[in-house]
Amino acid sequence: MNIADSEEMAAHLLERGYVPTENLDEADLALINTCTVRDHAEHRALSFLGRLRKWKRENPARIIIFAGCAAQRLGEKLKKTFPFLDLVSGAKDIDQFAQLLDKSGLFHAEKAQTPAGQKSVTGYVTIMRGCDFKCSYCIVPSVRGPVQCLPSAEILKNATQKAAQGYSEIVLLGQTVNAWKEDGKTFADLLNDVSAVKGVERVRFVSPHPIFITPDFLKAVENNPKIARHIHLPVQSGSTKVLQEMKRGYTREILLEKLDALKERGFAISTDIIVGFPTETEADFQQTLSLVDRVHFSAAYCFKYSPRQGTPAAEMTLFPEKILEERLDILLNKVKGLAESAYRAQIGKPVQILMESPTKGRTSDNFWAQTCQTYPVGTVVNTEVLSVEDTLLLTRD
Ligand code: 5AD
Ligand code: SF4
Repeated sequence: MNIADSEEMAAHLLERGYVPTENLDEADLALINTCTVRDHAEHRALSFLGRLRKWKRENPARIIIFAGCAAQRLGEKLKKTFPFLDLVSGAKDIDQFAQLLDKSGLFHAEKAQTPAGQKSVTGYVTIMRGCDFKCSYCIVPSVRGPVQCLPSAEILKNATQKAAQGYSEIVLLGQTVNAWKEDGKTFADLLNDVSAVKGVERVRFVSPHPIFITPDFLKAVENNPKIARHIHLPVQSGSTKVLQEMKRGYTREILLEKLDALKERGFAISTDIIVGFPTETEADFQQTLSLVDRVHFSAAYCFKYSPRQGTPAAEMTLFPEKILEERLDILLNKVKGLAESAYRAQIGKPVQILMESPTKGRTSDNFWAQTCQTYPVGTVVNTEVLSVEDTLLLTRD
């Protein structure tokens, strides 16, 4: 979502005569798009902003914009700590970013620049913003606001434009992406519609919520090979008690049913897990470890619980840092080999590779693969996995 939001904001800067650079020294403007989901993410954004003090001093005409979720949470008071900051643009303001630039008086409309050459096969299309859940640890609903679904007509227009620009993989985006709906239309219908757009070879989506893994969705997947066989489905915990206290809306049993249904349909599943939620006992933690053993995720991103001001869980008593560290270490040790074993399990399987370079691409289940022959970027190659080198599939083609 942040990549897509950054692209959207950058497009308005391109229209005002800016061109992207990787080199801060030659930049006239820095746009920092931020995350606040954990304290650590916000901290990194703020310390980066602090380091720009010197950069701005070197040339006071340089412009600094602080955007996204941390900007939403901290607001204009940021300018007290960082008086050299020019603009603050919260995550909820993304639709008004152009007006904000114009109002600031810092920019002059110039001839639009041609965007830099396309580097990837993946185009991002936002389909909904915000979240109607109230997970007790999570700050997202307060910084992003309630769910707003974009109309299907607009989504299809965006997907068509991206496909015409050569992006053959479309990633649909939203905080709870599979909660998308419109009168008479479901997320499954939208997946089918987007995959039918001319030039679209593959559709992915991020991040789904387990609750919306419905029979309707599973049916769409069965009938539509363009829907990628990989899902990043955050489970957060393997203990029903903790899941209830997190207000996730599902039990371990319901979760396992959904995960099994996805596995049966050939999905590789990656996930997010939080350790050290305030009420997580040793037995609860063991439940999470056993879930990881049972499901064979292809990857798991593991986080220490981080209290976020204003969320219900932030009122609960925290574990000492030592316990958080211990649990995270144990879990990280368990998930360490997941990717390698998921790659090894691919040997002998048929795969469809969407080429991202003449000899490399990703399979439908999101594994990197290298072909023997060369192919045009953006096309799909049907072949079979012969062997594996670490985290790279080698194919028979
Ligand atoms: N502490 C730790 N991890 C969190 N996440 C969300 N909120 C918190 C928090 N307060 C994790 C969840 C989510 C991912 C994006 O960040 O696992 O899926
Ligand atoms: Fe946060 Fe829960 Fe919404 Fe995900 S579903 S964004 S974890 S409140």
